[in-house]
Amino acid sequence: MNLAAFPSSLATPATATFPRHEMPLKPSPGALSRFSLPAVRGSLVSSLRRISAMASAPAAAPASAAAENGAAKPAEQQPVQVAKRLEKFKTTIFTQMSMLAIKHGAINLGQGFPNFDGPDFVKEAAIKAINAGKNQYARGYGVPELNSAIAERFLKDSGLQVNPEKEVTVTSGCTEAIAATILGLINPGDEVILFAPFYDSYEATLSMAGANVKALTLRAPDFAVPLEELKATVSKNTKAIMINTPHNPTGKMFTREELEFIATLCKENDVLLFADEVYDKLAFEADHIYGFYSWHV
Ligand SMILES: Cc1ncc(COP(=O)(O)O)c(C=O)c1O
Repeated sequence: MNLAAFPSSLATPATATFPRHEMPLKPSPGALSRFSLPAVRGSLVSSLRRISAMASAPAAAPASAAAENGAAKPAEQQPVQVAKRLEKFKTTIFTQMSMLAIKHGAINLGQGFPNFDGPDFVKEAAIKAINAGKNQYARGYGVPELNSAIAERFLKDSGLQVNPEKEVTVTSGCTEAIAATILGLINPGDEVILFAPFYDSYEATLSMAGANVKALTLRAPDFAVPLEELKATVSKNTKAIMINTPHNPTGKMFTREELEFIATLCKENDVLLFADEVYDKLAFEADHIYGFYSWHV
């Protein structure tokens, strides 16, 4: 795998220094109105860059060369306070693993960076579309041709007919779809059942929604769904069960029996099923069974 192909943001050097603040951390009421919009935007971008630089830098960054040479120390930086609901979350596992891979010169299996280029026909289609004027706001839930193509593909894959205009929403990646689903459907205090280990954005987004997370562990060697534990965990407070099949990181594929058990539990208890099937095409020795398919049988 070609480490040099990594986005530069992942290759933050250990000696990274951070830009000084351009606006107070806690502006007084009305302070924002004193900044022009581009200035505020610039400050926010710089603050966000600083947060991401801090998040990807090691805990104890070495002192700058100037400080080591006895020059005046830069003013003490106050760390930006993360919102309370997100305090327990650290940098994503992808950034952590990529940093470790770079540090140790290891092959990075933590994040799906292909060491080959994207297909020419896709790049050419994108360039053609941009040059043809498709470079402004698109329809929020997807351009009609794309929604129709997704619905057709979904019918072919899952046997389910979905309305491309009412039941398909295009997002920037699965993480945004997960966030939109959770933030749109979960109220503070709602219980959501997850199967651990799980993609780390699930819990962070559920925290933003104020959900009460109940995690059930999938255990080796077969990572079977603990059916009785699941049944006992579902209560009148359960709003949703979230599944991921094929499962990252174990590779487990939920069986038809497990999916039917979960679907029946959902129906009986009026619980939503969130199915993250982002790896549906990475099924090699068994067929992927679409979660929603079992819902309809
Ligand atoms: C289970 C799972 N769902 C969703 C995603 C994120 O998908 P995307 O990159 O499209 O946001 C990942 C990424 O690793 C994942 O492991």
